[in-house]
Amino acid sequence: MAEINIKGLTFEPFISREEIAKQVERVAAEIKRDCLTKCPIFICVLNGAFMFAADLYRAIDMPESEITFIRYKSYEGTHSTGKVKQIMGLVEDITDREVIIIEDIVDTGHTALQMRADIMAYNPKSLKIAALLFKPDSLQVGQPPEYAAFNIPSKFILGYGLDFDELARGTHDIYVLKSKE
Ligand code: IMP
Ligand code: MG
Repeated sequence: MAEINIKGLTFEPFISREEIAKQVERVAAEIKRDCLTKCPIFICVLNGAFMFAADLYRAIDMPESEITFIRYKSYEGTHSTGKVKQIMGLVEDITDREVIIIEDIVDTGHTALQMRADIMAYNPKSLKIAALLFKPDSLQVGQPPEYAAFNIPSKFILGYGLDFDELARGTHDIYVLKSKE
């Protein structure tokens, strides 16, 4: 795993693909264990969660469940804007269904809080969030995700679905912005 340079910033290896695979299996097992119904609906939050959702959903392996997609945007560059926009909404009827949102990262918590409110408006049976990454020290609003593959320090991350200005989403491993020496 070598360093990555993008737009003048250097990112160093942080979490390996092996470690990701291991924690994805753990979270999948926890979700399966906690499921109350056999047909929950998973909602993957685009763009960042697409890779995590693909791996997690396969690991959950519940043939009678569903997966769908919504899209939110809040970040510009390496900082959260605090403003959260829904760019693509839900078409499925989720009333009285068990819903699990699959999100890439919970940082300030603004996106998660907005999503919970938006989804709760449809009156699901239950609502949980499964996040690949959670930055506990950055949380400003709302609650922690019910499931998190990794708790990480408040640093900027990329790869495995997460981007820096839409770049570098396709890496196998997760990288962290290198602090300036
Ligand atoms: P929040 O609303 O501040 O919790 O931020 C949530 C969204 O910001 C996530 O869904 C990500 O798309 C993006 N984000 C937060 N932290 C990072 C990061 O370290 N790298 C890349 N994107 C991030
Ligand atoms: Mg996101």
